[in-house]
Amino acid sequence: MKVLVIGGGGREHTICWKLSLSPNVKKIYAAPGNAGIGTIAECVDLAVDNLSGLTNFAKDNAIDLTVVGPEVPLTLGIVDEFENRGLKIFGPNKEASLIEGSKAFAKDFMHKHHIPTASYKIFTKHFEVLDFIKAACYPLVIKADGLAAGKGAIVCKNIEEACEAVEKIMVQKVFGSAGLKLIVEEYLEGEEVTVMAFTDGKTIVPMVFSQDHKQIYEGDKGPNTGGMGAYAPINIVDSRLRKTIYDEILEPTIMGLTAENRTYKGVLYCGLMVTNRGVKVIEYNCRFGDPETQVILPLLENDLAEVFLNIIDGYLNIDEIKWSEKSAVTVVLASKGYPGKYETGKVIHGLDTVTEKDGLVFHAGTKSENDKFLTSGGRVLNAVAFGDGIKDAIANVYNLVEKINFEDMYYRKDIGWRAQNRIGMIR
Ligand code: AMP
Ligand code: GLY
Repeated sequence: MKVLVIGGGGREHTICWKLSLSPNVKKIYAAPGNAGIGTIAECVDLAVDNLSGLTNFAKDNAIDLTVVGPEVPLTLGIVDEFENRGLKIFGPNKEASLIEGSKAFAKDFMHKHHIPTASYKIFTKHFEVLDFIKAACYPLVIKADGLAAGKGAIVCKNIEEACEAVEKIMVQKVFGSAGLKLIVEEYLEGEEVTVMAFTDGKTIVPMVFSQDHKQIYEGDKGPNTGGMGAYAPINIVDSRLRKTIYDEILEPTIMGLTAENRTYKGVLYCGLMVTNRGVKVIEYNCRFGDPETQVILPLLENDLAEVFLNIIDGYLNIDEIKWSEKSAVTVVLASKGYPGKYETGKVIHGLDTVTEKDGLVFHAGTKSENDKFLTSGGRVLNAVAFGDGIKDAIANVYNLVEKINFEDMYYRKDIGWRAQNRIGMIR
């Protein structure tokens, strides 16, 4: 079987690695891929939003299965294009991807289907939102409606910050047309949890629950990033909470989408807040999370290509999906300065000393030159390690990190701190 993976980050490297373990996968292409992906797949110079280029490539090369990593091609309708050309592709179609593509749609959808979420109000007019925030209670959250590369949600502590956020989104239009609508939302206090689920639109199979660390500094402080680390399983979620999340969130979401003729096939990502008034949805994504995927897919014991094909064909079977009992942790190795300005082109040392026993290293922002790996982005590598419990996995991942270095390498030294604090409280 020939597979094409769309994307070029740590998430896509993990997907390619897992697919490479499948006995039926004979060849992997990645568009555009990265230097690490290039060690197990053939990288193709096509951008993720070049829908016609990608469709033609898949057709010309008789690709048997295409897997979409990022949200942009999904919301543009890549699945519809591939299906129209008779090609198999893993991911939700354009209508179903709107769950991530428009936060206003997602909020109204949750309201309609009684799925717990923060209370909210949608605005299209500048003066109306200003009137509203002048009379509101703080903190609150202001969000651009459309895709904003994870930067479209702004937590505001007071009216000045709220006015600034509205100015940024509606007047300066920093997110372009994504900011034509704006959502003002109740601020939820609690702990964030990620649940992703495989679904073929009928059957829903939740993956191991995880937690990511979005902020740049230790203690979850400072500006948000694309993610500085993640771990799984998360020990705040016991079997009762898992059932609540399935019954009150996952099932009504998938069934609600089907009822609205938006049958969802692929991975549904729910960003949740565990509050003292129950679990609420913060956001939906229509794809695998990054960096959560780097810890989740290594724990999956199934053949990933087979799981993808079963979902596409509508035969997902919950009893067949098996997970390892191990814990997994990933630490992101970033360029100093990220998420602001940073330098690239630094030589990465130590990758050749990493063995299977140490863990895995997935590339995000790397390029290769003269047989060397160089940094080419803000988030450069994901070190991933495993253990019999979270404590073990954390110790192992930091031993792995010790083996790798490049000039001005920055990483958080406290990934998994909440889980470690909880050890002994909940199994
Ligand atoms: P979003 O783009 O909706 O995923 O939001 C990005 C981040 O902003 C989330 O991961 C949370 O940390 C924070 N956030 C978003 N909405 C809320 C909310 N209603 N209450 C508290 N924090 C939020
Ligand atoms: N880890 C958050 C995301 O993938 O959007």
